[in-house]
Amino acid sequence: MSVAVLLLLGLGLLGAEGRRNRCYFNRTQEHCVCYNLTEETAGSLIQCLAATVVEFRGGELEKYIAFPIRDLDDSAIETLGSLIIQKVIIADVLVPEILLARVLRFFSYTHVKELAFDSCVFQGTGDWHGMDGQSLPILSLSFNNVTSAPLMGNEQAFSSLSMWLEMLQELAVTSSSVTSLPCAIGKVFRALHTLDLAQNSLGDGSLTPAFCQGAFPQLQVLSLQHNNLTSYHSVCEGVQLLQGLQNLNLSQNKLMADPSSSCQWPASLRVFNLSHTGLEVVLTPLPANLEVLDMSHNHLRAVDISLSSLKKLFLSQNLLQAVPSLRNCPVLDTLHLDNNSIAELPLDEVTLLGRLQDVTAANNPFNCSCSGAGGLQALAAMGHLGQGWPQDYTCQSPPGYQGWRVVAVPVSVLRCHRAAVVAPLCVALALLGLAGALCLLRARPCHRVRCWSLPSSASTQELQGKAHRPPK
Ligand SMILES: *[C@@H]1O[C@H](CO)[C@@H](O)[C@H](O)[C@H]1NC(C)=O
Ligand SMILES: *[C@@H]1O[C@H](CO)[C@@H](O)[C@H](O)[C@H]1NC(C)=O
Ligand SMILES: *[C@@H]1O[C@H](CO)[C@@H](O)[C@H](O)[C@H]1NC(C)=O
Ligand SMILES: *[C@@H]1O[C@H](CO)[C@@H](O)[C@H](O)[C@H]1NC(C)=O
Ligand SMILES: *[C@@H]1O[C@H](CO)[C@@H](O)[C@H](O)[C@H]1NC(C)=O
Ligand SMILES: *[C@@H]1O[C@H](CO)[C@@H](O)[C@H](O)[C@H]1NC(C)=O
Ligand SMILES: *[C@@H]1O[C@H](CO)[C@@H](O)[C@H](O)[C@H]1NC(C)=O
Ligand SMILES: *[C@@H]1O[C@H](CO)[C@@H](O)[C@H](O)[C@H]1NC(C)=O
Repeated sequence: MSVAVLLLLGLGLLGAEGRRNRCYFNRTQEHCVCYNLTEETAGSLIQCLAATVVEFRGGELEKYIAFPIRDLDDSAIETLGSLIIQKVIIADVLVPEILLARVLRFFSYTHVKELAFDSCVFQGTGDWHGMDGQSLPILSLSFNNVTSAPLMGNEQAFSSLSMWLEMLQELAVTSSSVTSLPCAIGKVFRALHTLDLAQNSLGDGSLTPAFCQGAFPQLQVLSLQHNNLTSYHSVCEGVQLLQGLQNLNLSQNKLMADPSSSCQWPASLRVFNLSHTGLEVVLTPLPANLEVLDMSHNHLRAVDISLSSLKKLFLSQNLLQAVPSLRNCPVLDTLHLDNNSIAELPLDEVTLLGRLQDVTAANNPFNCSCSGAGGLQALAAMGHLGQGWPQDYTCQSPPGYQGWRVVAVPVSVLRCHRAAVVAPLCVALALLGLAGALCLLRARPCHRVRCWSLPSSASTQELQGKAHRPPK
């Protein structure tokens, strides 16, 4: 709809009074939504002139297939050029591709950077020759819940649009039942750095052709979230030619551990999302240079990893019984352990955790022994315990503290660290006694001193010597 409407605007049809208000402008969000806009109600679009995001919901674009679309005159071009709209969303409409092909080029007169189609049905095939050699300002294109993403398998459209597609930076085709992506498509998107293919039906075998040699040469961010992937090994092989890949999201696939795989992930990979993938063990090999690893919402019972660049590790919602060893992750600053089966954060671990900036461990069955409760309280005192403290930290044992909040458990130094406290205390008392004795000595005759049997160390002899000095 937007294109037709922008066109109407450009053609100076704005004067035609809309009877009802179809567009609603939210000034704080700079977002304008127009419902079921038609030629007759297009006048209300004037409300959207100050918006940066304009959304067109519903309406019948089919009616405009035969609409005479002339080239724009200078004043229309000037109008389009003066719009501050950055993003156009087209939702809940049937889009005749023939119309899209005819009006897409008018975007070249605007500053629109993002174009998104949501829940649209694309119909027919367009004649894209009008776009030959044409470039557009749009850098981000997305299709969500569309019946058939247009252009797929349409060679002519691809060659006519190549000038623009070569410059595109972000592409999303989500929730659209995509099962494959031909190798040739990836070769067109030479500048693309983000590709979101979440919620489709891509299988293990579909990745190798999609990410063939020369496809998506600049790709940095790839989401394959919630697809039909099962083999960790095949995924690795499928993406290994993407030598600039930094961020890969495989969450919500049911991944299996393959018998030892020798595939190497791209060395550029920094952020890896394996949440909700049904993992029972940590899959290997992990990308060597990872900085962020999300393995939350799995069935992991133990984690032992060694990643020298890892900064953030997410392990919430697993079956861990103990804090994983962190000695081989020297630069870790964030560790999330919520919703596991961890009973204790022992004090020696806590000193290790203390160098982390952000630790969370809510909803674990804590053992509120001295070291357990003390460790958590110590972490909290250092200000390193994140979200959930104190309300989501409760004791499961010992029976006397069951149901208590960890924060409420009395953890006095005396009660918890008897050995550590008693020894220095004894020494202190002994010294105090000695000091007291010396005071007495200064005030009393010598023979009283002989009652004290002090150990014969150098210092005590010296003291005794001083003590023998006759009082004044
Ligand atoms: C505009 O959007 C803001 C933020 O979402 C919202 O709080 C506000 O209610 C909206 N205003 C109108 C008039 O809808
Ligand atoms: C748009 O049209 C649809 C059906 O044609 C209708 O259900 C809906 O209420 C309309 N929306 C508005 C805001 O008028
Ligand atoms: C997806 O789009 C169809 C129309 O093509 C619509 O009926 C359906 O409600 C949409 N689904 C979601 C989840 O938006
Ligand atoms: C997922 O892949 C399996 C084979 O690996 C296939 O049998 C199944 O039909 C696929 N499911 C979808 C929704 O594509
Ligand atoms: C997928 O994971 C990445 C991090 O790898 C994250 O930035 C992104 O938001 C996730 N995508 C979705 C749809 O949750
Ligand atoms: C991983 O993906 C999930 C969606 O499946 C998302 O909720 C989560 O935030 C992502 N993790 C990171 C670290 O971005
Ligand atoms: C932990 O579980 C609780 C309740 O089961 C849930 O509300 C919370 O979101 C979960 N937290 C995480 C980080 O998964
Ligand atoms: C709780 O910790 C104490 C001290 O470490 C230990 O003796 C006790 O067995 C633990 N209780 C449970 C239920 O793990």
